[in-house]
Amino acid sequence: MEFPLRVSETKVSTIYSGDSAWKTLNYRISELQGNAQKIFILVDDNTDQFCLPVFLSEVNTQHNPEILRISPGELSKNAEVAVALWNELTTREAGRDSVLINLGGGVVSDLGGFVASTYKRGIPFINIPTTLMAMADASVGGKTAINLQSIKNTVGTFCLPEATYLFPVFLTTLDNANLLSGLAEIFKIALVADHSFWKYLKTLTPGRLLKTSFQAKEWEEIISKSAGIKCNIVEEDFAEKNERAKLNFGHTLGHAIESLSFQANHEPISHGMAVSIGILCEAFLSRRYSGLKEEDFKQITGLFLSTFGYYPLTETDIPEILSFVFQDKKKSKGELNFTLLEHPGKALINQSCDTTSIREALESYRLLDPNF
Ligand SMILES: NC(=O)c1ccc[n+]([C@@H]2O[C@H](COP(=O)([O-])OP(=O)(O)OC[C@H]3O[C@@H](n4cnc5c(N)ncnc54)[C@H](O)[C@@H]3O)[C@@H](O)[C@H]2O)c1
Repeated sequence: MEFPLRVSETKVSTIYSGDSAWKTLNYRISELQGNAQKIFILVDDNTDQFCLPVFLSEVNTQHNPEILRISPGELSKNAEVAVALWNELTTREAGRDSVLINLGGGVVSDLGGFVASTYKRGIPFINIPTTLMAMADASVGGKTAINLQSIKNTVGTFCLPEATYLFPVFLTTLDNANLLSGLAEIFKIALVADHSFWKYLKTLTPGRLLKTSFQAKEWEEIISKSAGIKCNIVEEDFAEKNERAKLNFGHTLGHAIESLSFQANHEPISHGMAVSIGILCEAFLSRRYSGLKEEDFKQITGLFLSTFGYYPLTETDIPEILSFVFQDKKKSKGELNFTLLEHPGKALINQSCDTTSIREALESYRLLDPNF
């Protein structure tokens, strides 16, 4: 099926999707080459193998673009790798007018965006997301970051990509675990901001969706819808002074669980899996603090467990998660602020929760029946 070019333009984003987005990208690349601007492409080992050949077959690069490679995964999102990339750009004589193309998932766009936004006080970058997580969420909105001392996104910038190009065809080589990881952020975006999108997502059986061709309209629609909702929120509040914090639903506890999973004796989990656990714990807090109905809580729990599965937590994990939570950036004036749900489609920011309730929320997840 052919999709026409779709351009979604807000103050904070230009997103191209549809088949002719390749043409638009080609036009931009020839413009850069015409101006003799250097083009760098950041890939990880997987996107080097699976996505770069597709990119190079679609895009007419007269001069070979320079490829920057990193190891795949969250552990590359750190200061050492950022320094290595700044050094690499310097060695290869990248100038202020050079452009960095981030071809990869959220790790590549967060790290590449951070490196580009700081190198020589900022060079332009373009995001070409290759995971569902990055297409539907991470590649738009202009947050860039690296982790520090295992704490997520401690150092970063707010800096917009020049544009984002969405090509769901890249998802063909992505495994199910990473597809599900992206789906968790899509569910979150619907839960905090769009009731009808949430109702629509509930009708999709993930098993069927994951078997649906990535050329199919459903994927295009889900991805564009999710990225579009996020951009509308970001447009209201780019620097996350208020409204944008809605998008943090599930992330205060999710980030802490993700950080724990990277410690010795734990099994690293994907960002989306961690967020899905965070959402269930924060839905528990939403029942207590922000009026989420029991019926909605049960529906969210059932859908999340059947879609994302259950991640076993031990009793000793709980204090460790709490210690990560207290180092999180959402701690202000000694209180822990959460984004919670009033109902699916509406989130309330700055909901202060006490430590006992947070512990109980984690305990309630730990004791859940995986076959809920
Ligand atoms: N900046 C934001 O607004 C924002 C929003 C959400 C998430 N994030 C960040 O995004 C990161 C998670 O992103 P992610 O889930 O994309 O992780 P990721 O970038 O690590 O990608 C997941 C895995 O998929 C591989 N991969 C990527 N594209 C592929 C393809 N087409 N085929 C086969 N393999 C492929 C990668 O090499 C990696 O192993 C986290 O660091 C999270 O904090 C940022």
